[in-house]
Amino acid sequence: MKPRFYLTTPIYYVNDAPHIGHAYTTLACDVLARFKRLDGHEVFFLTGTDEHGQKVEKAAHDAGQEPKAFTDKVSANFRDLARVMGISNDDFIRTTEPRHYAACAAMWQRLADNGALYLGHYEGWYAVRDEAFYGEDELTTGPDGVKRAPSGAPVEWVREPSWFFRLSEWGPKLLDFYDAHPDFIGPASRRNEVTSFVRGGLTDLSVSRTSFKWGVPVPNDPDHVMYVWLDALTNYITATGWPEDGPRAKFWPADLHMVGKDIVRFHAVYWPAFLMAAGLAPPKRVYAHGWWTNEGQKISKSLGNVIDPLALVAEFGLDPVRFFLLREVPFGQDGDFSRAALNRRLNGDLANDLGNLAQRTLAFIAKNLAPEVPAPGAFTPADTALLDAARALVGTLRTELDRQAFHAALEAVWVVVRAANAYIAEQAPWALRKTDLARMGTVLWVLLETIRHVAVLLQPFMPTSMANMLDQLGQGEGARMLVALETPLAAGTALPPPAPIFAKVEMAA
Ligand code: MSP
Repeated sequence: MKPRFYLTTPIYYVNDAPHIGHAYTTLACDVLARFKRLDGHEVFFLTGTDEHGQKVEKAAHDAGQEPKAFTDKVSANFRDLARVMGISNDDFIRTTEPRHYAACAAMWQRLADNGALYLGHYEGWYAVRDEAFYGEDELTTGPDGVKRAPSGAPVEWVREPSWFFRLSEWGPKLLDFYDAHPDFIGPASRRNEVTSFVRGGLTDLSVSRTSFKWGVPVPNDPDHVMYVWLDALTNYITATGWPEDGPRAKFWPADLHMVGKDIVRFHAVYWPAFLMAAGLAPPKRVYAHGWWTNEGQKISKSLGNVIDPLALVAEFGLDPVRFFLLREVPFGQDGDFSRAALNRRLNGDLANDLGNLAQRTLAFIAKNLAPEVPAPGAFTPADTALLDAARALVGTLRTELDRQAFHAALEAVWVVVRAANAYIAEQAPWALRKTDLARMGTVLWVLLETIRHVAVLLQPFMPTSMANMLDQLGQGEGARMLVALETPLAAGTALPPPAPIFAKVEMAA
């Protein structure tokens, strides 16, 4: 039986157009999903849209549309983004779908049956932008007199009848759970943030609203709609077919919820508490990545510096953008998007290092040898050193990607790419052509074998370019899984005519 891997992106609010932050989370998940598939796993990769709540209702109203028509349109933009970014999701969930209403109703019922809910009255601060409740002590008042949440979102005073979830009872159980599962939250800085929040004491959570209608109705209490975060988080289990015992039920609990740092509390505190209270297993891991700034500035609509991922892909090509986003910034930390950095990565890492390595090797063979993989002779220590480094990569990538260290995985690959370029310079196959053809064949075989490892392992990051590179290495569809790296490259494999894979980009003046 294949090992299974279930991973999710956050579901995106449909109040606005997709931007770089959405593309980033989804892309990171896509790389993991593709890697796990190549590594023989049965993967279920979910993304989708979060369509209820006051914020979306307001956006629809501002656009002069009914919420349903509005969300249909904006949700489609997120689907398009996934297509343009080459995302390999297995499902796309919308919280307005009947399957999700059914799961939300079942979740509510379980919580109610288990005594986790009670009817009361909420009075306090609410930030529509975050769809979150805040305590007075968390707020600051700006020079404009506006009270704001730590996220910067303005808050308003809310007073209404509400159902509550007995979150206050879950503190000690959550802390035990974090202790027993040290990998539940990554990176470590977020884990500390969450545990200190929980240690600070939890208050009961308002989980229904009565002042607007755009939400999942509370069973048996039609004046209430569910709090949008209870509704939204439930999507992760809806998609497994829950509460039915369908073919996807086996995927729960999820292996990984990938989120941005701003929504860790919902995923690492509320969600496991809801699940445990409902008698369901919590997910295995929540990983929070950092936020992008644009040329040093916070990205915001009011500053007019939102980065459109579609425009980036149109300008630089998909694979270079995918590579840049995961290479430039250590995953988990905040990072800055700049065109200079993008150009540097594309020209340096892709065109000069990787592109040249493949191009020099393949063009040299095409010019000087029969168009096939040469047979190697005995290996020198230099050959063995490069081959060992290339063969160790698969293990390194497994480890690094299991801890969501995309940048470290890529850096490890580039250590080998740079070593291979140094090896070409040292071995000088062009000189061997005149003195020792057998040795030249061995050197080229070592290079092809190294490039094959690199290309197979980089497929999740740059699917199209690496498919092209593997085509040029004569490696068909059947030879691209990680397991294929356990067998050495076969001499005599036909090599089609080579063509450059990465173009250099010109710096705009
Ligand atoms: N709808 C909720 C999630 C519900 S999950 C059950 C939500 N949606 S969102 O559309 O506002 O944000 C989605 C993701 O985009 C978050 O993970 C957030 O961290 C991420 N980003 C938003 N701006 C970002 C950057 N500038 N940089 C990186 N990621 C950013 O929250």
